[in-house]
Amino acid sequence: MQLVKEKNQPVGETVNLAYWNEFYKRFYIEEESTFCSYIKSRIDKDTLIIDIGCGTGQDIRSFYREGFCVTGIDRSLEVINSNNNVIKQAGYRDSIDFKQVDISSESELSKFIQEKLEEARGRKKKLLVYSRFFLHSINQQTEEVLLKTLAKQLDNGDLFAAEFRTIEDANKEKVYNNHYRRFVDSEQLVKNLEEVYRFEVLEYTKGTGFSIYKGEDPYLARIIARKS
Ligand SMILES: C[S@@+](CC[C@H](N)C(=O)[O-])C[C@H]1O[C@@H](n2cnc3c(N)ncnc32)[C@H](O)[C@@H]1O
Repeated sequence: MQLVKEKNQPVGETVNLAYWNEFYKRFYIEEESTFCSYIKSRIDKDTLIIDIGCGTGQDIRSFYREGFCVTGIDRSLEVINSNNNVIKQAGYRDSIDFKQVDISSESELSKFIQEKLEEARGRKKKLLVYSRFFLHSINQQTEEVLLKTLAKQLDNGDLFAAEFRTIEDANKEKVYNNHYRRFVDSEQLVKNLEEVYRFEVLEYTKGTGFSIYKGEDPYLARIIARKS
């Protein structure tokens, strides 16, 4: 698969769908990420978590085992079906599910967020929209759909957390370098979250050493923001 450069067109994302469906036929990750442990140490149990671009769902299963109500969503039907089989075989029930949702579709995302907000309010919980290694997998247009939808629908106190590759990572060596990535300008994202989308950024860090994989130490940013 070749690396696709794009200019605000959904080309990279379209190629990416085929890439991820193929990838998930071969790969399965069991262990939670370091970002998942970091977030767990910072949130209360009265939080309902949705993981957008959840991949093999290792983080969502870990949140579930800690007692959180969770849903993982991803555009890849391949991985959603496989995740639902895994939790069925493990005997996990209620409070956890995986669903196919394409974040680039404003109507699909908006309907899903609305359902989850109603569930969270019914359970007297706040919502955490969690994403690891997702923002750099989508194009600028899809990022705008996501943030605009969250800004419109989340209530004060709901949370957004993200770990992603930044522009400083663009020229570093990669283990997998055969698919679409958009290296995110994290300073600009923080500014947009605060000035355009009305979030209060509670934590923002960037650098290396956060998530080392097979000798690759990517340059990442971590953000936790609260709707205000
Ligand atoms: C780099 S993987 C990260 C997976 C997982 N969060 C992790 O940390 O292992 C990016 C994921 O985003 C998903 N994805 C990409 N574009 C998407 C979209 N428009 N809507 C929903 N999921 C998408 C891909 O299918 C893939 O599973």
